[in-house]
Parts: sequence; C-alpha cells; structure tokens
Amino acid sequence: LSGYLAATESVGALQQESSVTKEVTVLYGSQTGNAQKLAEKVGETLKHRGFHVTVSSMLDFKPNELKKMNTLLIVVSTYGEGEPPDNALSFYEFLHSKRAPKLDHLRFSVLALGDTSYEHFCKTGKDFDKRLEELGGKRLYERVDCDVDYEEKAVKWLEGVLAELDKQGAVSVATTSSAQAKPTTIYSRKHPFQAEVLENINLNGRGSNKETRHIELSLEGSGFVFEPGDALGVFPKNDPELVDAMIQKMKWNPDILVSIEEKEEPLREALQFLEVTVLTEQLLQKLAEFSKNDEFHSFLSSEQEAKRKEYMKGRDVLDVLCDFDSWEMTPQQFVSSLRKLQPRFYSIASSLLAYPDEVHITVGAVRYEAHGRLRKGVCSTFCAERLHIGDKLPVFVHQNPNFKLPEHTHTPIIMIGPGTGVAPFRAFMQEREAIGAKGKSWLFFGDQHFVTDFLYQTEWQTWLKNGVLTKMDVAFSRDTKEKVYVQHRMIEQSKELFRWLEEGAAVYVCGDKQRMARDVHETLIHIIAKEGNMTSEQAEAYIAEMQKQKRYQRDIY
Ligand code: 2AM
Repeated sequence: LSGYLAATESVGALQQESSVTKEVTVLYGSQTGNAQKLAEKVGETLKHRGFHVTVSSMLDFKPNELKKMNTLLIVVSTYGEGEPPDNALSFYEFLHSKRAPKLDHLRFSVLALGDTSYEHFCKTGKDFDKRLEELGGKRLYERVDCDVDYEEKAVKWLEGVLAELDKQGAVSVATTSSAQAKPTTIYSRKHPFQAEVLENINLNGRGSNKETRHIELSLEGSGFVFEPGDALGVFPKNDPELVDAMIQKMKWNPDILVSIEEKEEPLREALQFLEVTVLTEQLLQKLAEFSKNDEFHSFLSSEQEAKRKEYMKGRDVLDVLCDFDSWEMTPQQFVSSLRKLQPRFYSIASSLLAYPDEVHITVGAVRYEAHGRLRKGVCSTFCAERLHIGDKLPVFVHQNPNFKLPEHTHTPIIMIGPGTGVAPFRAFMQEREAIGAKGKSWLFFGDQHFVTDFLYQTEWQTWLKNGVLTKMDVAFSRDTKEKVYVQHRMIEQSKELFRWLEEGAAVYVCGDKQRMARDVHETLIHIIAKEGNMTSEQAEAYIAEMQKQKRYQRDIY
C-alpha cells in the first residue's frame, strides 16, 4: 500500500511540476511607477508567451505564497539613500527576518532599478538578490542593475530570463490566435525587436524596370500584435559604398573611433546609422561651422534661400562635402552634426491569422540617377541588396487606426492599390479568408507590365477562384500604346462601382500620393457625380460623408 501511495504521489508531483513550471510570479517594489510599469510589461510578455503570470506589488503579496511558488521575478527600484521603495518595505523586512522560509524550491531573477549618481546604486535589488540566494533559491538569470535609462537593459534582462525559462523546460505555448491577445510587448520604436529574416525575394520578373522585394520576418518572441492596415517600422543601414565615398572624400581613416551617445565605434560603422541622404537646413548650418569656404557661407545666407532649397532636393551629404570644399572638420565633429537614421515604414502585407508570429512587407527598391550619380533609397535598397535570410532586422509595429477593415465582415470593400500599394490588401484578403468573412471585395491593381510586374498574381487568382475576392480589375500601363491606369478601369466600371458605394462599400486607396491618389480621388468624384446625377459639389459631399463613416480610407506615401 505504501508503495502504491508513493507511486501515485510521485506521479502527482510530476504533474504538478509540469504545470508549476509555467507559473511565474512577478513582484515589484516601486516608488515612482517605473518598476511597476516594467513589471507589468514583463508580465504581459510572459502571458503572451503562454505562461501563467501573477504580477503584484510587494505590499499586496502574501509571503506565505513563497512556499508554493516555483519561479519568482523581482523588479525593484532603490529609493533615496539606498532604501527600498515604500511598497517594498514590509516584504523586504520579512525576507530579511528570521521568519523568512527556506526557498530551496525557488528559482528567481532580479531586475534592479537605480541611479548611478547615488552612492548606494541599486542597493535594494542587490539585497533581494543576495537574500534569496541565502534562503536557498537558485538564480535563474543573473541580476541586472539599470541606471536611469533603464529600458535597454531591462529588455536584455527579460530576454535572458525568457531564454532560461525555455531552456529549463518551461516551454511556452505559442498563442494560436494572436489577434485575440492584447497588443502587449516590451518592444517599440525606441527598443526595436530583432526580427529574423525568413524570406526575401524579388516579386518582379526578369526584364522588369522594377525590383519589389517580398520580405518575411519572424516575430516569434516579440509579443507584437497587429491588424491589417498597420505598418512596420524598419531600421536600415546606410550603403557602405556611400559611407566609404564620404570618408575617402575627407581623407579620413575609416577605423578611427568616434563616439555617438557615449558609445565608441569606428567611423565607418557609425556612419551606417546616421542620416546622410537627407539634407536639412539645420545640418547645413552645422556643417558651416567647419567650413572655410566663402561660397558656402554666402550660400547659407537668407538671400540664397530659394537657391538652397532647390539644391537640397535630391542631393545628399556627399554632394555637400564635394561641392563646397575646404573643410576643417574632424570625424567626430562630422558625426556629431548628423541625426540618427530614422526608421522607414511599410504597410504590412500579411495577417497574423494566416501567418502567426510572422510579418510580411512589400518593399519597392528606389534607385534613380540624379545630379550625375546613382541615388538609392536607404531602406529599400538595404532590403534589396544587403538583407539576407537569417539576418536580424530591427523592427517595430506601428498601428494605423485610419486604415482598418470595416467593423462588419459583410461590408463590401473596394481596394485600389497599384504597385506596392497592393501590400495591405494582401493582409486584408488573408484576414477575411481566415475569419470566413462574407462581404464582397473588389481589387484594382496596376503596374507597368503584366508579365513581370503583377505582384502576388497567383495569390489574387486563388482568392478570385475561392471567392474571397469577388472582382479584380488590373491596369498595365506600359503594355499598350495608350497608358491605362487603375482610374481608367474604375471609369469603365463606373456603374457597378457606384452600385457598390450605394450598398455601403468601403473604399481603400494605398500607394503613390503625388499623382495616383489625387487622380483616383478625382475619378471617384467624377463617377459619383455621373452615376448619382449629382453636381461635383454634391459628389464631394458624398465622399466627405463616406470619410466620416470611415468608408473612405487612404494609406498614401
Ligand atoms: P507608369 O509608371 O507606367 O506611368 C505602379 O507604379 C503603376 O502606377 C504603374 O503602372 C504606373 O504607371 C502607375 N501610375 C503612374 N502614375 C499614375 C497615376 N497618376 N495614377 C494611377 N497610376 C499611375
């Protein structure tokens, strides 16, 4: 009998063990709210990864629970002259008293917040870390001490903790329907997620004038959640050839160390992360401090403003270095004059329901000849020329509340997206297919040539066949003598199109802002006026009303 009991007990213990490993308690002690916010973010990330998480203030925490728990994460700041925050005090004293229990069963990790300008930097965190070990706890991951700028280190700490949890067998379950989860992540524009490149292919056929990259990225572990219509922020690197050309022009040593935000780096590295392809008034003024060129100084006077504005169009920093010689500038002065490279945004081309834990983007490589030199779009040519499968790309999700599928899945949608403007509509279709939406849908797509430029052609044809897409009209502008654009196809279909509008269809326009979006807008007014027997003022009011009802949304660039 006792053998039987022992056996069932051990099975019970095993079962308990496997459920227990997925339980994590996050305790915070916070004076100004930073530690609390961090603890909540940590909790949300863990939840998203499938853990059962309890996040609690140390004040509300019942120390008795310590005996039952298996994994404890502590986020705590240090207050004043090395004291615990008010809401940490009672728990701190309990742990340091004789009443504190043995904690042999516990694994733990501490994130300590503090301020290096104080003598007792992160003291409370250090004390907790030391005491938990004294009581028998096993350190899951080394304590991390953060200065006032804590975000980066906090992210590192959480990544380390997550990796250990995974390693030690607390394998997290991927959430199957991410759309149901709240948008909870510790990653952001300030702390982008390093997304692994899963795919990077050219969608255009041989002989095309264009190169459009279809890029698939893994978002596994990011906690990012997005909806069709949202965008992805991407941090590129500058073209090393352009960087080298500037260094050579200035006869600098590419390996000389320069510092940016207190980090030392070789000049050649640093310049890959600074904005050098966009000229601003401020930058020119800064560079003037290091110029012995009279012509440059008079060029910067207010009299020459018009000329200067014209010059700045389509030129970059290398042009300035070459066109206005006689510089007295150190590499450090140069680097300090430049802004950090800003992220570029791309409309997301996939739905999380169709591709959980992935994000797809459609990137048109920008290359053109101007002022005697080949010019390249920073991010698009980085993606086309220097981004390989397996590389990590820093990204973050940017929500776009103004480009969203209709609230009701039966509402008809009309999607107008020539060129890369088609990207979000691929996400729309994937989403509608995944949820089995009943609403009609109509795509207008255009590009230069049918044979080489029909982006995602087979996918559209499949959706047409299976009824996810109701109607498709395409305009290939350079296959015929006369150019045909999407708006010409819209006019050909004007009766039908107006009927859809009257049925309550929502119209989406994505792509070129300068010409396409303007022409499509005019065309819509024309169609409404003609088919609805309205004056153009009435037609404009009709569109304005659609806009109010969120039935006319544009994502144009
Ligand atoms: P084009 O380059 O032959 O002039 C995607 O780039 C497609 O949009 C191309 O076929 C391009 O044609 C077309 N396009 C250019 N200007 C446009 C406009 N004003 N309205 C609609 N489509 C346009």
